Amino acid sequence: MKLVFATANPGKVREAAEILGKGFDIITAAEAGITEEIPETGNTFRANSLQKAEYIYKKTGLNCFADDSGLEVDILGGGPGVQTARYSGEDHNADRNMAKLLREMARREAEASIMREMGLSTPHATRKARFRTSAALILNGEIHFFDGVMEGSIARERRGDGGFGYDPVFIPEGMDQTNGELGEAFKNTISHRGKALRAMAEYLKG
Ligand code: IMP
Repeated sequence: MKLVFATANPGKVREAAEILGKGFDIITAAEAGITEEIPETGNTFRANSLQKAEYIYKKTGLNCFADDSGLEVDILGGGPGVQTARYSGEDHNADRNMAKLLREMARREAEASIMREMGLSTPHATRKARFRTSAALILNGEIHFFDGVMEGSIARERRGDGGFGYDPVFIPEGMDQTNGELGEAFKNTISHRGKALRAMAEYLKG
């Protein structure tokens, strides 16, 4: 079965092709004739994954899917969320994104500690966080969603340089190393995107 993946990232296409396995021919949006940037303006991961899949479907009429991911940090009220990629600016710079994340969390922790000293109640300041992915599949004109979550926490400083994005500051639950130290191959076995894509693969194969 031919499926268009609404991404320009060859790494993501390789991962999806590996997860879906034989019988699925995954092509990129560009290979389906869509070379412009696909709009992504929603307020939730689901809205964004659906917006991207619908864009491809309307233009090509082909079965297709899209994913949208991001980081939710408890002490930042669930942020940066859909702003994850552009947290520090439109250039999607991973170093600046991580620096801003560590800075904002330190600021919130300091505020919480002042409030406690003043005897004011404040929610317990944790470093808990999670990556979330929503995958939207349009199959024969019908929409299906698949979600994946990787729970964990944010390290106090960057460690390791494997992976991409926020991997050097994200410690998956039950581990004491960051994704940057654990490496991409291991992360793919437990990742939010892997879980969402494996759920989609199961549905398509079932
Ligand atoms: P996207 O929707 O998959 O492009 O993800 C949005 C942003 O979330 C990326 O630009 C990264 O900054 C971050 N992100 C998503 N998945 C991961 C991951 O597995 N590790 C680290 N950062 C990630």
